[in-house]
Amino acid sequence: MPAITIIGAQWGDEGKGKATDLLGEHVDYVVKFNGGNNAGHTVVIRQEDGTSEKYALHLLPSGILTAGVTPVIGNGVVVDLAVLFEELTGLEARGVDISKLKLSASAHVIADYNRQLDKVTERFLGSRKIGTTGRGIGPTYADKVNRIGIRVQDLFDESILRGKVEGALELKNQLLSKVYNRRGFTVDAVVEDLLSYADRIAPMVCDTGLLLNQALDRGETVLLEGGQATLLDVDHGTYPFVTSSNATSGGACTGSGIPPTRIDRVVAIVKAYTTRVGEGPFPTELFDASGDYLRDNGHEFGTTTGRPRRCGWYDAVIARYAARVNGVTDFVLTKLDVLDGLEEIPVCVAYDVDGVRHDEMPVNQSDFHHAKPIFEMLPGWKEDISGARSFADLPANAQAYVKYVEEISGAPMSVIGVGPARDETVIINSLT
Ligand code: IMP
Repeated sequence: MPAITIIGAQWGDEGKGKATDLLGEHVDYVVKFNGGNNAGHTVVIRQEDGTSEKYALHLLPSGILTAGVTPVIGNGVVVDLAVLFEELTGLEARGVDISKLKLSASAHVIADYNRQLDKVTERFLGSRKIGTTGRGIGPTYADKVNRIGIRVQDLFDESILRGKVEGALELKNQLLSKVYNRRGFTVDAVVEDLLSYADRIAPMVCDTGLLLNQALDRGETVLLEGGQATLLDVDHGTYPFVTSSNATSGGACTGSGIPPTRIDRVVAIVKAYTTRVGEGPFPTELFDASGDYLRDNGHEFGTTTGRPRRCGWYDAVIARYAARVNGVTDFVLTKLDVLDGLEEIPVCVAYDVDGVRHDEMPVNQSDFHHAKPIFEMLPGWKEDISGARSFADLPANAQAYVKYVEEISGAPMSVIGVGPARDETVIINSLT
C-alpha cells in the first residue's frame, strides 16, 4: 500500500489523529501537507501499564509519536518556527524520538507580522470576521500567492532573507500603521528572529518531494495527513469561512510533491455527528440541549484555541460531497460512542432551500446559508459501546446506524471509533 491520504470530511476535528496513529505502525513516512499550527490533533496512547498518555499536537504530524516513522512537513505547510521548537522540546522531554523529522525547503514560514495581521484583520472585519485561529495562517498563504512569502530555504541566505523581509514590510508596515493604527515591525527584528532558527532547522531541511518519491520507488508506505477538512478547503469549502489552504485530497499532491497517480487510497475521517469552530454556515447545528449533550459527551472544545465547538447531527449531504471531491475510498466513522444513550438519532439526508429539496450541496453559498436539514430519524441504543471490537459486538441499532449512514454517504465505513484510545476501534476493512 504505497501512498494513503487521510483527510477530514466535515469542518475539522473529526479525530484524524487517531486514524493516523492507527495506521502509523504500518507506514514509513507521515506527511503533513497543508495548514500550520491552526490544526490540533489529540492522540491518546495507552501505555503498557494501562495508563493513557495524551498528546496535543498543532504543527507536527502525529506520526512523530510512532517509533520508526519518518515525519515530514511538506512544502504546502506554513511553519511557525517558534511553535515547531516548542512542540519538539515538549516531546523530547517526554522521551519521544524527534531526530527523524524532515522539513521541506519550500515550506513557507509564518513571520511575526503575519500573526499580528491575522489578529487585527479579524478585529477590523467585526461581524464579518472568519473566526480564524489567529495564528497567521491566512496572511502567510496570501503572501505565498502574492509571491512575497518567506520560505524555509531563505533562512540560509541572509541577504536574500533581508531583501524579502524588506519587500514584505514596505507594504505591511503601511497597512499596520495607517489602516490598523498599530506599530510596524523593523526589518532587523524580523530577520534576527528568523535567523535564530537557521542552525537548528538545517539538519531537517531537504527536498521532501524527492525524498518521498524515492521512498515510494522503494515500495515504502507514505501517509499523507491533511490538516483541517473538506468544508474548510479554500476551493471546495464554505468560502469565505474556510482556511487558506487545500485540505482536500488534491492538496495532498500539491502540498507534498507526490503526483495523483501515486496515491492509492483516500481515507476520509467523518464524525458520527458534526462539529464546527469559527464562523460560517452549518445546516444541522443544534442550539438546544441535544447540542450540549454532544458537546459535553464528545468533549467538543478546541485543541488549539479551547473554544467550545458548535455541534449538530450527522449531515450525509456533506459526507457525499466529501466522498466526491476527495475520491474517498474508505470512511473512518469516529466517536460513535458519543451517541450512546440517545432515544432517537436524526440524520440529515437532504436540505430544504426555500421549499426546494437539495440532495447535493447547493451551488450557491447563500442557499447553503439558509438550507434547512431534512432528517431521517433512527432509533438509538442505550448500551455503552466502548468495549466493542467487532461489528457484531455493536448493539443492533448501532449497527443499523452505521449501515444507514454508509449507504447514503458514498463510500464504505471501514473503521469505527468507539472511544478515544487507539484500541477502542472496530475495524471492518483494514486500511493497510
Ligand atoms: P485559520 O485556519 O486560522 O485561518 O481559520 C480559518 C477557519 O478554519 C476558522 O473557522 C477556524 O476555526 C477553522 N480551522 C482552522 N483550523 C482548524 C482545525 O484544525 N479544526 C477545525 N477548524 C479549523
